[in-house]
Amino acid sequence: MKKLRHVLTLSDLTVDELKTVLKLGEDIKAEFKQGVRQKRLDGQVLGMIFEKMSLRTRVSFEAGMSHLGGSSMLLEEQHIGLGKRESVKDVSRVLSSMVDCVVFRAKHHETVAEFASYSTAPVINALTDKSHPCQALADMLTIKEEFGSFDDVSIAWVGDSNNVAASLIEAAAMLGVKIVVSSPEGYRFSQDEIKELTQQRQPGFDLEFIDNPLEAVRDANVIYTDVWVSMGQESEEQKRLEIFKPYQVNANLMAHARRDAIFMHCLPARRGLEVTDEVIDSPQSRIVEEAANRMHAQKGLLVWLLEK
Ligand code: CP
Ligand code: NVA
Repeated sequence: MKKLRHVLTLSDLTVDELKTVLKLGEDIKAEFKQGVRQKRLDGQVLGMIFEKMSLRTRVSFEAGMSHLGGSSMLLEEQHIGLGKRESVKDVSRVLSSMVDCVVFRAKHHETVAEFASYSTAPVINALTDKSHPCQALADMLTIKEEFGSFDDVSIAWVGDSNNVAASLIEAAAMLGVKIVVSSPEGYRFSQDEIKELTQQRQPGFDLEFIDNPLEAVRDANVIYTDVWVSMGQESEEQKRLEIFKPYQVNANLMAHARRDAIFMHCLPARRGLEVTDEVIDSPQSRIVEEAANRMHAQKGLLVWLLEK
């Protein structure tokens, strides 16, 4: 029997485990490109609960699981009535008695944590208001492919200090990557949050906060942004769209960065807001490679968690 493990944030892994997962993802991707699809999870079943919309996360887990010889099922909120028709505890105990792993995208991080506390199958966080570890796995795979290693790579995060940023900082800390964060006042991580995200910091990691986005991107190899209004923040939209305006990743901002810097975005993007067409469609943009790597990185995670 494999030891039961949940991945709700990247800190649920050790640094060595994170590296192992990424290496598995890399190797499985290389095989996949050669047309090889080893049935490493033959007959295993993935249950996927989504309380929020998704394209990449759902498709990458579903396609990935199928390539590995397993299957998956989507359980949407309105079908299972999590917390309404039935308690989180009961859904967790019943579902985990029938499937081998649960992928959960939740409105509130606490719901995934509660679910995991009762689950007898591994639980993977597929995005919460607090973190998006699967995204960070794909991001780090993309960065490694681009630069060959994490040595001397520097990331500039421009925009909201949100779930994607949190997991990216966590990954950067664990893999020894420099990161500069440029967010407007009132939308920055607290000291406690930073402490929690950087617990497993490795040599090479450095975290700097630079308020002016034009300055923040100056030495970075990777310019990364995400939406200004995340799912669940719709009521704050008007206010946020005003506040974040100076943080748009546009041609002017890219002109202040290194000429060989790449642009990344977890997607979905709101073109014309946090990023302009001229940047997201430019030769510097790696958005499609990054999205495609969701599947490869998560296959690494699934194999690491579930292979018998
Ligand atoms: N990046 C990401 O998680 O995309 P989806 O919301 O489409 O799954
Ligand atoms: N920060 C965004 C990421 C979507 C993948 C959100 O939470 O809506």
